[in-house]
Amino acid sequence: MSIAIELSRTLDRAVDAVGTGVFAEQLQDGEAPDGIDVGFLTSQGFKAKPGTSCVVPGDDGQLVVALGLGPRADATVATYRKAAAALARATTRQAHLAIDLLDQAPEHLDRPDVAQALGEGVVLGAYRYTALKSDPEPHHVESLTVVGRGAQRVRAALERGRAVAAAVCLARDLVNQPGGTLTPTAFATRAEELGALRHFEVEVLDREAIEEEGLGGLLGVNRGSTEEPRFVQLSWEPDRTPRGTVALVGKGITFDSGGLSLKTADGMIGMKGDMAGAAAVLATFSVLEVVHPAVRVLGYLPLTDNMPGGDATRVGDVLRIRNGKTVEVLNTDAEGRLVLADALSLASEAEPDAIVDLATLTGACMVALGMKVAGLMGNDEGLIDQVRAAADAEAEPVWPLPLPEDMRRMIDSDVADMKNVAGARWGGALIAGVFLQEFVADGTPWAHLDIAGPADADEDDGLTRKGGTGFGVRTLLRLLSDFRRPAAQ
Ligand code: BES
Ligand code: MN
Ligand code: ZN
Repeated sequence: MSIAIELSRTLDRAVDAVGTGVFAEQLQDGEAPDGIDVGFLTSQGFKAKPGTSCVVPGDDGQLVVALGLGPRADATVATYRKAAAALARATTRQAHLAIDLLDQAPEHLDRPDVAQALGEGVVLGAYRYTALKSDPEPHHVESLTVVGRGAQRVRAALERGRAVAAAVCLARDLVNQPGGTLTPTAFATRAEELGALRHFEVEVLDREAIEEEGLGGLLGVNRGSTEEPRFVQLSWEPDRTPRGTVALVGKGITFDSGGLSLKTADGMIGMKGDMAGAAAVLATFSVLEVVHPAVRVLGYLPLTDNMPGGDATRVGDVLRIRNGKTVEVLNTDAEGRLVLADALSLASEAEPDAIVDLATLTGACMVALGMKVAGLMGNDEGLIDQVRAAADAEAEPVWPLPLPEDMRRMIDSDVADMKNVAGARWGGALIAGVFLQEFVADGTPWAHLDIAGPADADEDDGLTRKGGTGFGVRTLLRLLSDFRRPAAQ
């Protein structure tokens, strides 16, 4: 369901709730905006911290919602995104919302950026996954009136915010959809539908084509499944002469049982979300026609589930990856790197200016960085810096991890070019990164985001709800919009 967003100089239509920004200073000085009683706010323990809200009942049934913005000098675009999300979350039964804080935004922020953040925040904050509820609590937010001055640039920014957030919600829906229905074939069909609707190219390789192309990693992981694999290739061109080509790769394991190296019962929970990388890439494509970066964008999505069927890849089997390298599979649960190996090889063949992959790759990355921070690795400092800057700008936390050269020998195999796991369990996120690097062509800048933690949330928080978060979509869009060819290293 989509929320209608409009800009209006004054609030002249009847709405069910109005969100009003409150800076920390206003609370201290007792100068809250019109219609808000500071005494009431403080009695409720409201401290105007960013992302917090306090609902003040009005006389005519209309709610006024105080939205914390923190100290004025510290306010960022992310503050406004969080404030809009807090409004949507605080008003679960109100259909028509207004938000009145754009005109009070501090000078150091760009108005269209703030407007975009408001559009994003309200859509993200209102998100719920209700597709499978027989009696879904009706989704209440139908419209948002953004009160403020502004012309076409601000209106366009609001629409861009709505569209970007809708893409994030698409990624969330894909992550939340069970693996039994979001099979590799269903995912590929979804990609084809979106391509037709949103004007990007989609090519789907079926099993036969995957065999012809020599994608031995994908075939090896798929062997234990009764579901066919798919390999989806996406491409999109800007109207202008492109400033470069960026290839996006997403891990698309529609369910990860571990294969014969079977996970525990608890370890399998949440593994319907092991395609979050592929979901983020597809969702990014779905909104390229709106964001319209000045680069050509390619997408590579290896899709299969990882099942322990009678013909599953045996421990000790050797797979030949697209680029000719052989891999001894010593743990079938380290399957993501096998399908990504094929995808990175194929992406390298297109000779893009950069490759960025997103993958729910290792539990070890969650041990290192927790549930909310993605691990960032790669072979090119310039590209890593660009990904870092994009993620920071979007408030999607990432943190750099190294790819130590001398770790390569930890994946030496007795029988093949390498094995898919190291003997020791230390540094598992790095080992996975070192493995992936083997499939990126020398000289191609590459960055890897291990999103095992932040792809899924274990509680409602700020912009996200429990479940799929759509992590990475906003970072990718920002990266593409700001992309500069990394200097040769
Ligand atoms: N999909 C998992 C990683 C994962 C774990 C993502 C938990 C999200 C939450 C991946 O395929 C996996 O199983 N990795 C193994 C690698 C190991 C066998 C080297 C892991 O992390 O345990
Ligand atoms: Mn696994
Ligand atoms: Zn996996």
